[in-house]
Amino acid sequence: MRLLITAGPTREPLDPVRFLSNRSSGKMGYALAAAAAARGHEVTLVSGPVALPSLEDAASGRISEKRPEVASTKNVQIVRVVTAADMLAAVKQHLATCDALIMAAAVADWRPVRVARRKMKKGEAQTMTLELKRTPDILKTIAPLKGQKLFIGFAAETHNVRAEAKRKLREKNLDLIVANDVTAPGAGFEVETNRVTIFDAHSEEQLPLLSKRDVAERILDRLEAKRKSGR
Ligand code: CTP
Repeated sequence: MRLLITAGPTREPLDPVRFLSNRSSGKMGYALAAAAAARGHEVTLVSGPVALPSLEDAASGRISEKRPEVASTKNVQIVRVVTAADMLAAVKQHLATCDALIMAAAVADWRPVRVARRKMKKGEAQTMTLELKRTPDILKTIAPLKGQKLFIGFAAETHNVRAEAKRKLREKNLDLIVANDVTAPGAGFEVETNRVTIFDAHSEEQLPLLSKRDVAERILDRLEAKRKSGR
């Protein structure tokens, strides 16, 4: 299959030295890309800013200073983006040539209305209010282009995990959603493991605590099965 995978957070700039973002490390999306490439799928990985060694550096065991915007390694092309708007543009650009999309990225939901061109000075102020504006919902924006493609989303929640996952599955027109309670031990941000439940319209499969690589393998098993059965 040709897979389009997004990973990491997005960053929404406030001024030249500050941004709004979230705690996503990119590990889940990168694990999906590595596992899919190892199975022989062709992967385009759209990555927000992450502190992980790039897949090609990880593969060769070297850490490089150089981070080109588009790089490739066996079966993986990496496209680096910063903001939600950039990620939407990259997803739109690569969508037509993919069979399935996995949105593992933690897209920032809000961006500052005004981006200062110069560093914002605090002066004497003791409080400050930021006006924020919604970023585009990538999955909702591209839903009309879905056709026969399989779409997989993620839901990182702190409460009402099941209800929220089912709502997002429906509202974002997804074939599968991978949900996790980010407050559970061993799950969520910056850790090597995850405990997830995979939902489709008819079923839910609760997985045990697994490495992110093993979670990736289980997601790919489900994706491949859906593809084979024509859903
Ligand atoms: N997502 C997206 N575009 C956004 C926000 C999220 O495409 N602007 C995708 C994520 O990549 C994920 C899924 O939608 O696959 C669910 O993301 P999540 O942040 O859990 O949900 P939200 O849509 O932001 O909803 P809420 O704020 O209610 O949690």
